[in-house]
Amino acid sequence: MWLAPFLLLATSFVPSMQQDGNTSTTYPGATYPNAVSPDPDAAVDATFSPPYYPSPWGTGLGDWASAYSKATAFVSQLTLIEKINLTTGVGWEGERCVGQNGAIPRLGFRSMCMQDSPVGVRDTDFNSVFPAGVNIAATFDRGLAYARGQAMGAEHQMKGSDVQLGPVAGPLGRSPEGGRNWEGFSPDPVLTGVLIAQTIQGIQSSGVIACAKHFIGNEQEHFRQSPESAGFGFIFNDSLSSNIDDVTLHELYLWPFADAVRAGVGSVMCSYQQVNNSYACQNSHLINYLLKGELGFQGFLMSDWAAQHSGVSSALAGLDMTMPGDTVFDSGRSYWGPNMTIAILNGTIPQWRLDDMVTRIIAAWYYVGRDETSIPINFDSWTLDTYGYEYFYADMGFTLINEHVDVRQEHADLIREIGSASTVLLKNINNTLPLTGKEKFTAVFGDDAGDNPYGPNGCSDRGCDNGTLGMAWGSGSANFPYLVTPETAIQNEILSNNGVFQSITDGFAGMQVQALAGQASVAIVFVNVDSGEGYIDVDGNIGDRNNLTLWKNGDVLVTNVSALCNNTILVIHSTGPVLIGNYSSNPNITAILWAGVPGEQSGNSIADVLYGRVNPSAKLPFTMAETREDYGTDLLYIPNEGTGAPQVNFSEGVFIDYRALDRANATPVYEFGFGLSYTSFSYSNLEVLNVDNTSVYTPTTGFTTAAPTFGGFSNDSADYLFPANMTQVPYYIYPYLNYTDLETAANTTGYGDNSFVIPGSQDGSPQPLLAAGGAPGGNPELYDVLYQVTATITNTGSLPGAEVPQLYVSLGGPYDPNIVLRGFEKLSVQPSMSTTFTVDILRRDISNWDTVSQNWFISNYTKTVYVGSSSRTLPLSATLS
Ligand code: NOJ
Repeated sequence: MWLAPFLLLATSFVPSMQQDGNTSTTYPGATYPNAVSPDPDAAVDATFSPPYYPSPWGTGLGDWASAYSKATAFVSQLTLIEKINLTTGVGWEGERCVGQNGAIPRLGFRSMCMQDSPVGVRDTDFNSVFPAGVNIAATFDRGLAYARGQAMGAEHQMKGSDVQLGPVAGPLGRSPEGGRNWEGFSPDPVLTGVLIAQTIQGIQSSGVIACAKHFIGNEQEHFRQSPESAGFGFIFNDSLSSNIDDVTLHELYLWPFADAVRAGVGSVMCSYQQVNNSYACQNSHLINYLLKGELGFQGFLMSDWAAQHSGVSSALAGLDMTMPGDTVFDSGRSYWGPNMTIAILNGTIPQWRLDDMVTRIIAAWYYVGRDETSIPINFDSWTLDTYGYEYFYADMGFTLINEHVDVRQEHADLIREIGSASTVLLKNINNTLPLTGKEKFTAVFGDDAGDNPYGPNGCSDRGCDNGTLGMAWGSGSANFPYLVTPETAIQNEILSNNGVFQSITDGFAGMQVQALAGQASVAIVFVNVDSGEGYIDVDGNIGDRNNLTLWKNGDVLVTNVSALCNNTILVIHSTGPVLIGNYSSNPNITAILWAGVPGEQSGNSIADVLYGRVNPSAKLPFTMAETREDYGTDLLYIPNEGTGAPQVNFSEGVFIDYRALDRANATPVYEFGFGLSYTSFSYSNLEVLNVDNTSVYTPTTGFTTAAPTFGGFSNDSADYLFPANMTQVPYYIYPYLNYTDLETAANTTGYGDNSFVIPGSQDGSPQPLLAAGGAPGGNPELYDVLYQVTATITNTGSLPGAEVPQLYVSLGGPYDPNIVLRGFEKLSVQPSMSTTFTVDILRRDISNWDTVSQNWFISNYTKTVYVGSSSRTLPLSATLS
């Protein structure tokens, strides 16, 4: 027998792993001695996720005050039904965007449109396809990150989207095989943190709410959702648990989300899987304690699509909006909607919690200026037909649904620029590159050079690896307006010089490849690896990659061409690291370029680099290791708990990517931060200025105000019945009740719920502030500048170029990584000229997380700063006094 959410009161409280699992207030790792980071080899305690209640109410912290005062004025006018409408999606394919909440027609407030993706506007036409997040990471360029965000935001704005479902910091990239790593930036938390902040500010400057996702620990596609896994033949009851200790959460995975919150992100999406055996969308430790308490997040938390697993519990654990609103797609049932009405009427969810949800949603809307920028939605996610159903799944309301608004503006230029600025030059023997375009015979090889025979959008959500990899697969994609292939761009280049150009885009055409390679004076081989989201299987890769080798016969192709042409240039399009150790040492392979996932202008971008119009300046945002094992982490491909939730222990702690190789003393093929230029740079003159070595870090103290409520509501359940004259759209989620008796009404919502109420979760009295909290992004003193480091960068070559000097810190403890990135800048320098690289070192940059005091501290170990051109080339160093 199932129990309706409103029946499950505090008296029925039974600790359950599915909720927060434990009533203890100790924290994982609480036995770690103070002032020492945890031993990465120690076991992760995944048996619980400590509960934290009540859910912090937004107060307008930081620069949110004005948005909050507008929001509270707005929310104060709303009826209970109108408030609940804002929190609950109308159901999958219920309206035109990938997610929409209910409208408030009385006030002319239309339903909000939540639309993918992190690379543009998904599921429409006449939009741009921008380079993926991993490419922005390779630029190491704050300005380009902002510009891309602003341009993507502008396209969303012009299509009528309110929330762009991106950018991504989860996955961070724990394992290189992770299917969606490319949607995010880099496995380095500082690089990701800086660039996610810039992207958010760019998007929101265009008047669209950004959504930082997926919070948190969403590091693999396999088993992220048990129903999805069942479709692939893996049967288990609960989704995977990412088991992460408290230090690793703070020093690695939470870090970029702190930057996102500090940058003012309007929304965050919680992820599908569990963390420490509690679902991320109802995990009060993650949401109440970390995101809203410690990080002071003022916007709203929405669920990933069907990542909600309970009604009352998720509400009390801090979820603010359920997307797409139905429990199971198109079931017509919701954990919220009418169940929320019932839970409010019987007091299970206090009014202040609902008011907080709604205030956060409306505050985000004002915060980015949607009151001035909002326009009607002019596209439809489910069809590109001009006319169709307004309520797609219900086949109702035939009308104009796609206005085909061209929102691309001049963004192609920016996309081309980012494409070349993110192309990493890994090898360049004897100045092979740049080419002149006057080579006698240019041959291009590889499936990755050419077109997808089905067209650039021929595979739904880019779910195939046909032709050049301009975009990877899943909800993180968008429809191409066109895709300039490398084959086309290079052919144009050669023909403009009246040269000879031939290409073979069938990588399996062994004989023909050998014949052409033998004729070529320069052979350019394009190879790729692809990956994506876990609902699509491409060649047996269920989102995640099965291995780190090249796809489409790439290794055979490279070997064959380079055996016959001693001027072979290798170009790699990939969603992440790939094993290329054999090629770095092969003398016939004269140059290697990594071009990532570059978007619609792919061919033009690579041609700009190959032919020297752009001097490469990108750096690897991850490590190219010699072997898969060198990364020290891997994915779980076979469920390991029978029908129980698969368990993934993040037992490597903070040691991912370069930190893992450094720790194991493994030599990478190309290290994190590495990238060549057509010119050269020297580093000199390191200076460290002690900006502030006396101030003491003050833990935040004090209490919040009591939880506010805005407006009132009638307690008469008859007021919440479906209005008599209303036409109901089938499967559409409404907040209305079918019966006045709440228990009967709950029975007819048709959904059993495993919610319960944890003591303290309904308490709206003033609550203690957290020591590490106090402002968006955490304790403001974490961002105090303690030191300023400067160094001189000189262009010692003969071409103008840009360099990315990098600053790393050794925190010095026995369990700290050798070095961690803490600063970088892209600097343009003319030949023979110098420029100054300046990095502020913040308190956060030299702190560790202390699990006992639940705060940051600076250990007594000696701190050293290093400056150089990559994580393994660090000619300058100094000790911080
Ligand atoms: C699921 C994906 O995980 C998320 O990133 C996306 O925004 C939603 N689906 C909506 O498409």
